[in-house]
Amino acid sequence: MVRLQLSAVLSCMVLCGFIAMMFLVYTDVPQQFTLIEDHGLREVYNDNAQDVKAVGFEQLAGEIKMKLIRDRFKTRRRVLNETCFKYESIVYKYLPCELKKTKFDLKYVEDGGLIYCAIPKTGSTFWKRVMHVIGGWGNTTNPIEIRSEDADKVGGFSTMEDKNFTEIRDLFEFSKTVMFVRDPFTRLFSAWLDKFYSPNPFYWKYGGTNIVTRQRFYANNTTEEKSEDSSEDETNGAVQLIKRSLSNDEETEDANTTTQKPPVKCGYDVSFEEFISYVVGFRQNSTCLDEHFSPNYKHCMPCTFEYEYIGKYETFKEETVFLLNELNLTEKVKIPDFEKDANLDAITGLTEWVFLQEKKIEECGVTFRCALFRTFKRLQSRGVISKSVPFPYDNNTDINIITEDIFRNDLLRLSKIGTKAEKRKNRQESILKAFKSLPKQLLEKLKESLRVDLEMFDYNDSPEYLEGEVTSFDYFENCLGDE
Ligand SMILES: *[C@@H]1O[C@H](CO)[C@@H](O)[C@H](O)[C@H]1NC(C)=O
Ligand SMILES: *[C@@H]1O[C@H](CO)[C@@H](O)[C@H](O)[C@H]1NC(C)=O
Ligand SMILES: *[C@@H]1O[C@H](CO)[C@@H](O)[C@H](O)[C@H]1NC(C)=O
Ligand SMILES: *[C@@H]1O[C@H](CO)[C@@H](O)[C@H](O)[C@H]1NC(C)=O
Ligand SMILES: *[C@@H]1O[C@H](CO)[C@@H](O)[C@H](O)[C@H]1NC(C)=O
Ligand SMILES: *[C@@H]1O[C@H](CO)[C@@H](O)[C@H](O)[C@H]1NC(C)=O
Ligand SMILES: *[C@@H]1O[C@H](CO)[C@@H](O)[C@H](O)[C@H]1NC(C)=O
Ligand SMILES: *[C@@H]1O[C@H](CO)[C@@H](O)[C@H](O)[C@H]1NC(C)=O
Ligand SMILES: *[C@@H]1O[C@H](CO)[C@@H](O)[C@H](O)[C@H]1NC(C)=O
Repeated sequence: MVRLQLSAVLSCMVLCGFIAMMFLVYTDVPQQFTLIEDHGLREVYNDNAQDVKAVGFEQLAGEIKMKLIRDRFKTRRRVLNETCFKYESIVYKYLPCELKKTKFDLKYVEDGGLIYCAIPKTGSTFWKRVMHVIGGWGNTTNPIEIRSEDADKVGGFSTMEDKNFTEIRDLFEFSKTVMFVRDPFTRLFSAWLDKFYSPNPFYWKYGGTNIVTRQRFYANNTTEEKSEDSSEDETNGAVQLIKRSLSNDEETEDANTTTQKPPVKCGYDVSFEEFISYVVGFRQNSTCLDEHFSPNYKHCMPCTFEYEYIGKYETFKEETVFLLNELNLTEKVKIPDFEKDANLDAITGLTEWVFLQEKKIEECGVTFRCALFRTFKRLQSRGVISKSVPFPYDNNTDINIITEDIFRNDLLRLSKIGTKAEKRKNRQESILKAFKSLPKQLLEKLKESLRVDLEMFDYNDSPEYLEGEVTSFDYFENCLGDE
């Protein structure tokens, strides 16, 4: 408790004055919202995230369209500003872990005068590689030629970990600033798919184990309203354990669990519902929720620092292409075929990962066949492989003969089947199905917990899945662990 208050006071000492200052220097008044034009653009590009290649940037680069996208960024800044104002009492409270994370997420290329703040699950691996290319790292103009694993290395860009907030503010003043956000609902689905459904022994062992502990073994004991300072009973112990393993707070990382031994070794079958219950029930206090599950607005301090360009994952390609033009970077960064590259990138990345993790996956009690199946199914959910394509290995296939090369080539071959429209529909249906499977009460709570995020980044159009019947959603059929 004492430590908590102390850190709150300390962060306020650093930030409160600084925030007041930010308000004073906020002089750029965005122009009027051009709803009709923006709407027109959506029609032109029709679910535009997917269609940049089809339309071609030559056409997009037409002055009118450039202006429309520019206006879109202005609108976003205005909405953000209004929301920061409206939720003043919430959005300026930063925990030490958030401050620290923001410094790490802020990537900049000094010569380029460009700052990019990386929010996980919003296309950040791609943009980090763009920053590497801009910084001249890797001797290439195509970001996907830099390996995804190298995205976080300090090569072409620097992070702001060693800067104080005065220095950071100064850098903001003289730089172009970019961040990307994503619909908070689909961002959570993507996080679950990536961290718990897909073979991810690291998350299974820590986060997964603890979500299972909490949702299956302590579900009846955990009083939602219970505050942190209640006595150290076992329930609280479990919650502590969960928070610890899912937090970014390094300070708590070394402390040991002593009596709290989780009931399962690996939480490899955390259901979407359990995951969402966990996220909704998380009480942010001295620890931060895992960065992949915490809302957009908890990253990058968007109410404190002014980001000129707030891009959206839903219109990722179009806006990335726009930004490269707007920032005069088209000579340095060339993306020959966005769509094809993105699929190749996803397949290569996931294949490499699953083979690298083979041993750990099996140690968790999940067969490698199951791991390959989940990788395949994840690609279907993402719209890389059509749902009409069956898993290429039946029960008679000896999985030991499937090498990394074979698997990658099979996936690449299968990704060519089916139309783009069909796959896009598959992707939307996966998300719809997942959320429709949640109890209404939980969905309502989730929506409430995402309120600031939904308003701040203008994702308020009520998603379809908030209405209608609850339907089943079982991704684990035919593929569970052996334990
Ligand atoms: C931000 O919002 C406040 C309050 O609504 C307003 O007074 C201010 O002019 C806005 N600033 C910008 C840059 O829009
Ligand atoms: C960069 O790439 C070019 C073309 O592939 C090659 O000729 C050159 O040697 C490379 N430079 C470095 C430093 O690797
Ligand atoms: C921030 O860092 C700069 C350069 O190291 C230093 O001069 C300045 O005093 C620091 N400001 C604060 C508030 O710590
Ligand atoms: C929690 O309690 C309910 C009813 O009180 C019971 O049906 C359920 O099985 C219990 N859950 C666990 C994990 O014990
Ligand atoms: C609740 O806590 C008790 C100990 O306080 C423990 O024995 C029990 O397994 C826990 N879970 C449930 C569902 O009651
Ligand atoms: C953190 O815990 C303290 C002590 O129980 C409580 O007063 C405070 O409201 C909590 N903060 C948040 C953000 O939940
Ligand atoms: C941490 O674990 C070590 C052995 O693994 C034990 O000796 C030590 O007492 C534990 N520390 C605490 C604070 O429980
Ligand atoms: C890009 O180039 C144009 C024309 O040369 C210039 O007006 C503009 O300021 C440049 N933008 C940036 C971000 O450097
Ligand atoms: C393959 O094995 C799984 C799990 O043992 C089983 O559920 C499934 O029906 C089998 N499929 C075929 C085609 O035999």
